[in-house]
Amino acid sequence: MPLTTAPDELRSAICTTPTSFATAPARPVAVADARQVSEAEAAEAVARYRLNGFALVQFTPEECGEDTVEHLAQALELGEPFVPPLYTKAGYASPRVSSISAPEVQEDSRHPHFETTVGQDLHCDGTLQDIGVIKSAVLLCCSQGAEGGESFVFNAHAAFAELLDTDPAAARALTSPGVLVRRATFNGSDEANRGPAFAVIGDRLVCRYCVDATDRWETSAVDDPVAAGRGLEFLRSARQEGSPYSLRFTLAEGQAIVMDNTRISHGRSKYRDGPGRRRRLLRSLHLRHPGGG
Ligand SMILES: [Fe+2]
Repeated sequence: MPLTTAPDELRSAICTTPTSFATAPARPVAVADARQVSEAEAAEAVARYRLNGFALVQFTPEECGEDTVEHLAQALELGEPFVPPLYTKAGYASPRVSSISAPEVQEDSRHPHFETTVGQDLHCDGTLQDIGVIKSAVLLCCSQGAEGGESFVFNAHAAFAELLDTDPAAARALTSPGVLVRRATFNGSDEANRGPAFAVIGDRLVCRYCVDATDRWETSAVDDPVAAGRGLEFLRSARQEGSPYSLRFTLAEGQAIVMDNTRISHGRSKYRDGPGRRRRLLRSLHLRHPGGG
């Protein structure tokens, strides 16, 4: 019999890290010198991350590079960037900070999301890692494409809290081990990770709401498939544009988002590069939250 998490335990875990997009400031935290993020700048970013599940940080576009990501991670006490083992399989090398851009000439071995211009639906980073392992991610926009490439985030934590209030059986069903199957299609791998979409780890609710191309929901594998289906339908509706749980924005050049990979899901719309306008983002993954923890 699959183990699920009781509603009372979920309720108390939700209270540990309440998350709202309503208080997210429109203006990013402005960093004066990327090489030396000040204590006040870092503290403001940490405070926003805790309240909103993410924080936007603005550097001058000229300062955009791998070092900028590493300096920010250091200032926020995120620890060393984590490189998923999948990225270094079969002799491939992968840097600590990944570059996300589409090559001018398409190659067969490209990363399915890093090196294409297609849209990417909501997901959490760390496909093959277990839920809750990758705690945070930094995404820095170095240059925008000619068109598209809008970012969107979904407050899975708060949406799940509402689901728990209105339909506890549906919320509980989404904590079933094996309800979410994520598959990697990179470096010749077809490995999969099966797990719950929501779990209590330590004293926190940890979320992993993913509906991207390689994610699959196996509601038939849980005790109460009907309740799981209701939960997914609720979340599908909660993620729509205009919902208080959904935000869309375009990262400006020199702008970074620090995301809680355990509370919010993220995605991007498709984009098009043009002459002299190639979209390029840098990304690092981390095993800690900003400010420690
Ligand atoms: Fe991602």
